[in-house]
Amino acid sequence: MAPMSFRSLALVALSTLVFAQASDVESSAASGQRANALAACAALNKSLGSTLVQTSSGPEYDFSVHNAWNFQNTLFNPTCIVFPRQTSHVQTAMKAIFKAKAHYAVQAGSHSAMKGWNNVQDGVLILFSHMQSVVYDKPSHSVTFEPGIHWGNATSQLSQYGVAVVGGRVGDVGTGLLLGGGISFLSPSQGFAADNFLSLDVVLVDGTVVTATATNRYSDLFTALKGGANRFGIVTKYTVRAVDVGTPDDTPFYGGHILYNSSYAAALSKATAKYTRETTDPKAALLFTITTTLIDGVAEQVCVLFLFYRGSSLPQSIYGDFLAIPAVDTVLSPLSWTQILPARDPPNFVSSNRGFVQHFSASAVVPEDRLVLSALNHFQNFSSAFLHNGTTSGMNTTSFILTPILASQIAAGKAKGGNSMIAPGLKGPYLNVQRSEQFDAGVPDIPAFVQDGMNLYIKQVPRSPGLPLFMNECDQGQNVYETYGNFDALKATYKKYDPTRFNMQYTQGPMGL
Ligand SMILES: Cc1cc2nc3c(=O)[nH]c(=O)nc-3n(C[C@H](O)[C@H](O)[C@H](O)COP(=O)(O)OP(=O)(O)OC[C@H]3O[C@@H](n4cnc5c(N)ncnc54)[C@H](O)[C@@H]3O)c2cc1C
Ligand SMILES: *[C@@H]1O[C@H](CO)[C@@H](O)[C@H](O)[C@H]1NC(C)=O
Ligand SMILES: *[C@@H]1O[C@H](CO)[C@@H](O)[C@H](O)[C@H]1NC(C)=O
Ligand SMILES: *[C@@H]1O[C@H](CO)[C@@H](O)[C@H](O)[C@H]1NC(C)=O
Ligand SMILES: *[C@@H]1O[C@H](CO)[C@@H](O)[C@H](O)[C@H]1NC(C)=O
Ligand SMILES: *[C@@H]1O[C@H](CO)[C@@H](O)[C@H](O)[C@H]1NC(C)=O
Ligand SMILES: *[C@@H]1O[C@H](CO)[C@@H](O)[C@H](O)[C@H]1NC(C)=O
Repeated sequence: MAPMSFRSLALVALSTLVFAQASDVESSAASGQRANALAACAALNKSLGSTLVQTSSGPEYDFSVHNAWNFQNTLFNPTCIVFPRQTSHVQTAMKAIFKAKAHYAVQAGSHSAMKGWNNVQDGVLILFSHMQSVVYDKPSHSVTFEPGIHWGNATSQLSQYGVAVVGGRVGDVGTGLLLGGGISFLSPSQGFAADNFLSLDVVLVDGTVVTATATNRYSDLFTALKGGANRFGIVTKYTVRAVDVGTPDDTPFYGGHILYNSSYAAALSKATAKYTRETTDPKAALLFTITTTLIDGVAEQVCVLFLFYRGSSLPQSIYGDFLAIPAVDTVLSPLSWTQILPARDPPNFVSSNRGFVQHFSASAVVPEDRLVLSALNHFQNFSSAFLHNGTTSGMNTTSFILTPILASQIAAGKAKGGNSMIAPGLKGPYLNVQRSEQFDAGVPDIPAFVQDGMNLYIKQVPRSPGLPLFMNECDQGQNVYETYGNFDALKATYKKYDPTRFNMQYTQGPMGL
């Protein structure tokens, strides 16, 4: 039997199996959950009206349900979707949800890889597609934006003023990134994206709205939200520091990407560890990826390095090791910020790939060659175990992604008041080690034996003691909060703002609070 047809058959078998489990006899818990959601939705339909609260399939409901980036999150049918236009609509929604004890989810940019974190079955989905404003305030050198904006849109709208916000590295990703900490190509000089918060409007679990800043009575909530994800409330407005990056006519950066033969995977991983150890210049940024993809049933692996320097060329003293390794293709030039983070992602970019199950997992290690090479070896075993001729894993692509967290990034965050992730004593540098997967079209879920392999890899590539795992890149089975440097404060803050633990019970998100 040819590998492809064997694969197709296996996939059909797999989907039948998963759907059979999902449509199992309904429990009374599930019907209670549905009744509560119906009550919340009926109340909201009454108070907000049927444009803001869509209870049955219409074009906007259908588009929104099927728009989540991870295919697993397009298979839930929320009882209703609330499309707020302003903070008070979110307050009304949370009051009704809290009162009815309804399950709920929040969706901003839709890019969570976590199943169930941005959509919900038999619950209320709050979706921010109508709250996308972004405003620059020159006197305070700050930017205020709503949660529905995507980084590419924010970049293009702010570029006329020569400023940017510290957001993501990919244009289609959204503001949920901030609540998980957030890493930008500006992070080496500016800290984690969340380190740049100035003020946050937060709708608490019971519908109360508060404005949290570093110095007011909600400063504990403000710090918790720098990495605390979705457990503390719903942010409806972000005010953050602006960063000067020039207009689209300016090219203050130099860089791009370099493609390498995968035979250099180990050399490049070691060079990334050394770069992380030795780079003290906060103008330097880098991201290293190794990707294996099944193309016509054959596994192909490539290495791609993304590198950007704020200056007119790449300093040899920083990038020399990478530039000395023979490249397959080198695309480097002077760049504007809008070229580094364009309004639209390139076609066929991973962010544009909708309709596939997606998965992440995270580790964080001190940048020693032996630790990086060990992680790489485990990745290579994982990759060849699940991406081989005639595989029935349903997996199409897996990547190994290294992000240096320079000491300058950690220092910048501390200078801006600190966050929930980094312990006061942690100076860094360290390396975030991410693994990500994309499955074939038609695969509705991750097969159990593949998840077992993922879990084995997570055990094989443990974080170094004292380092926080990166929320935005984790597997939902990883307890990220307990790795945070300020875990005790985070727990106390959660208890204060959600004393009945409603969010731990009625919305999906990180475990461990
Ligand atoms: C292609 C790609 C590239 C990425 N690149 C980066 C990167 O460069 N740097 C980085 O740090 N991360 C990156 N990520 C990870 C990304 O930060 C996370 O997936 C993040 O959760 C996405 O946010 P979102 O708004 O797009 O997604 P969503 O799925 O809409 O939201 C993510 C989570 O945040 C919650 N949430 C969103 N908005 C709110 C709110 N206003 N209030 C309360 N809870 C909220 C949601 O409920 C959900 O749990 C990338 C992801 C992808 C898929
Ligand atoms: C929502 O309210 C409208 C009246 O404003 C009503 O016609 C409609 O049936 C309601 N929908 C649901 C699902 O309750
Ligand atoms: C990578 O190098 C190997 C030899 O080391 C060669 O066989 C292979 O064709 C190269 N791949 C690409 C894509 O250039
Ligand atoms: C944001 O960008 C996307 C394309 O990436 C576009 O479809 C959308 O209309 C933009 N939204 C706004 C408000 O500019
Ligand atoms: C995988 O299949 C391709 C043809 O589809 C073949 O050329 C290649 O040698 C096979 N590789 C292995 C490891 O079996
Ligand atoms: C796997 O991904 C590659 C590259 O994106 C694509 O060409 C191929 O069609 C995909 N295979 C399947 C079965 O989806
Ligand atoms: C390689 O991965 C497979 C699949 O997860 C696993 O069974 C095997 O033990 C791994 N081997 C090593 C040496 O880690």
